[in-house]
Amino acid sequence: MTSRRGALIVLEGVDKAGKTTQCKKLVQTLLESGRPAEMMRFPERSTKIGQLISSYLENKSNLEDHTVHLLFSANRWELVPLMKEKLEQGITLVVDRYAFSGVAFTSAKPGFTLDWCMKPDVGLPKPDLVMFLKVNPAEAARRGHFGTERYENCAFQNIVLQRFEELMMDSAVNWQVIDASRNIEDVHEEIKNYSQKVASKAVTEPIGHLWT
Ligand code: TMP
Repeated sequence: MTSRRGALIVLEGVDKAGKTTQCKKLVQTLLESGRPAEMMRFPERSTKIGQLISSYLENKSNLEDHTVHLLFSANRWELVPLMKEKLEQGITLVVDRYAFSGVAFTSAKPGFTLDWCMKPDVGLPKPDLVMFLKVNPAEAARRGHFGTERYENCAFQNIVLQRFEELMMDSAVNWQVIDASRNIEDVHEEIKNYSQKVASKAVTEPIGHLWT
């Protein structure tokens, strides 16, 4: 019997696009349809590296821009063994942000190219599907006030959106753009349909390597 792996599904978008809500709903729906599924998120703030990142995001500490970029990447790499283990056990992982956020946010800062920002994440487990929840940053800001964390301002989020759009031109990644300005249920329906298709397909294919 061939072993069946889970699918690696990523939700991306600017802050307040509804990613976390949609990740939770997707996990619930996959479980109800009999497919083992778990949610993960990046940054994963519970590790030592994650705590450094969290303190930086909360403006409790300052880190040099290249340094924090590499910490975000290291935070993904430290979770790779666990991710692979779960995928190989047949668990579908629904991930709230991944390397694409890493690149989009750092490259929105002056002096950073997409190319430099991508390098540390080359070779990570490649998502079977990346859904980009698209909302206008001004509308996202109206959805719940932007909090006090670093990066939560409209001007910066507009540049982040442009960087995401550049990343989405890469046809080697299975991007799907989701209009996330609709109501939660309609957005969920579309995400569910894409995810179920890809989860059935992923089980027969080996896990790929991102950006190689
Ligand atoms: P969140 O925990 O609310 O998703 O916020 C995390 C913040 O960190 C968000 O503003 C995006 C940013 N970020 C990066 O700058 N680089 C990364 O690699 C990731 C995953 C997130």
